[in-house]
Amino acid sequence: MNRIEQVREVVDSILGDIINEEERRYAYIHLYGVAQAAALIAKKRNENLELSIIAAMLHDIYSYKNMDAANHAHKGAVIAKEILTELKIFSGEEIALIYSAIYNHSDKDMIGETFDEILKDADVMQHVFYNPLFEIKAHELGRFHNLKNEFGII
Ligand SMILES: [Fe+2]
Repeated sequence: MNRIEQVREVVDSILGDIINEEERRYAYIHLYGVAQAAALIAKKRNENLELSIIAAMLHDIYSYKNMDAANHAHKGAVIAKEILTELKIFSGEEIALIYSAIYNHSDKDMIGETFDEILKDADVMQHVFYNPLFEIKAHELGRFHNLKNEFGII
């Protein structure tokens, strides 16, 4: 099993514990959707595909583990680090990259490190394309505008 699938096994077992069926369904859709968007964005930017997908799979892990979104980016980065360390298949440098992306992913109004930006943009892309007929949230409009430019889909 490759590393993406190993992380998914851990994430799936956490999501499987969500009691409410609708919340559990959206948790899977969101994390796998953000992972696919992250793959697309990382490929386009020539960045690390595997680590981008793994950061995406873990990025909201605190929210789904605790059903509480307050400060979930910072708290989730700590949980992600624990999960990745326990798996013993990632270097300290790789874990630090993923930790940083998850820690900063709620700061959508700020431009951060190249790797961090993939996760922020992937989060926005999943939100928008989950149902393009829904109104785009105000705080995601700027990033989505830039993504459309980047992908030439204006
Ligand atoms: Fe998210």
